[in-house]
Amino acid sequence: MAASVPQPNQTPQAGALAEALEFLHLYHTETSRPGLRQRQAEAYRGHLPLSTDELTFGARVAWRNSTRCVGRLPWQTLRVNDLRHVTDHDGVFTHLLAHLRGALNGGRILPTMSVFGPGVRIHNDQLIRYAGYRQPDGRVIGDPRNADLTDHLRRLGWAGGPGTRFDVLPLAIEAGGQARLFDLPADAAHEVHITHPTCPAIGELGLRWHALPVISNLTLEVAGESFQVAPFNGWYLQTEIAARNLSDEGRYDQLPAVAAALGLETTSRRSLWVDRALLELNVAVLHSFDQAGVRIADHHAVTRQFQHFETLEARAGRPVQGRWSWLVPPMAPATTPLWDRRYDDREVRPNFTPQRPAWREARPGVCPFHP
Ligand code: ARG
Repeated sequence: MAASVPQPNQTPQAGALAEALEFLHLYHTETSRPGLRQRQAEAYRGHLPLSTDELTFGARVAWRNSTRCVGRLPWQTLRVNDLRHVTDHDGVFTHLLAHLRGALNGGRILPTMSVFGPGVRIHNDQLIRYAGYRQPDGRVIGDPRNADLTDHLRRLGWAGGPGTRFDVLPLAIEAGGQARLFDLPADAAHEVHITHPTCPAIGELGLRWHALPVISNLTLEVAGESFQVAPFNGWYLQTEIAARNLSDEGRYDQLPAVAAALGLETTSRRSLWVDRALLELNVAVLHSFDQAGVRIADHHAVTRQFQHFETLEARAGRPVQGRWSWLVPPMAPATTPLWDRRYDDREVRPNFTPQRPAWREARPGVCPFHP
């Protein structure tokens, strides 16, 4: 690609131009669409609004380039809602609801992205998140990972939910410098109750998780343009829920409870009760999503699909970048084909870049105490 790009001066503008030219080359080469020279000439002349087709292609390639994602095989199936004209609170919320319902698709989850216009921000790092309520003794009811977000939403005026471990947080949508809160209706935040195929006591723990992971704190970088509000989802891999969210000591910390449900002796870790509890919680999450008819991957299948993705990319003459520590699953990693692989972790564009959480930003106009 680099050969097609003129060597620009190192100004931000020149960097954006170089990226735009490179992207147009990639787009026209891979899609065989005509008109590359004309589009590049337009890029040279200044502002270059991407067509919906270019934006869609760019978003798909950003997924293809995501070094941390082991589920990249279906990158070409990403559906992109081009909502760059939507810049008001109600419009954004309405389209987010449509995104959540359309992506769930009755359980046959469709990878989906919605790209909104300038001046919009979503403060939540995922569209569906459980509250983490800080207690006076320092403990957290709910998801400790979301305690800062929960505090932030409280400062923005959220009255708080019923106080369970699984209260779905409202969305903070910012437009024109003003943040407003929106409650998600239950059907837009579909959840799966966790039960175990043979151990009813695990089902009695009252665990659940939401069906859709919708990342909303990554900026989509395409053709030298940055789209700050481009929430996107795939479907879950069971280890994300069972081996991290519900198990990590700094999250729901449920392995002792699962071990108790299994009747395991937990006095010494040397009995491997942690490992047994972890395994059965993974079994339970897969079983529950399957029973509920909600699509979910398992680490054996997804790592083999990743190998297939690598084969297809090699055939297309494209190198695959990856971050080994993210690609390898946190369950039985050495039983998967990725264990003895090495990956180049370079980040190439189009791609996604992280954003600072809204509550760490000093931005005028959005502080509820000084409106
Ligand atoms: N690990 C995150 C979570 O547990 C979700 C990241 C995206 N995952 C995905 N399968 N698309 O919520």
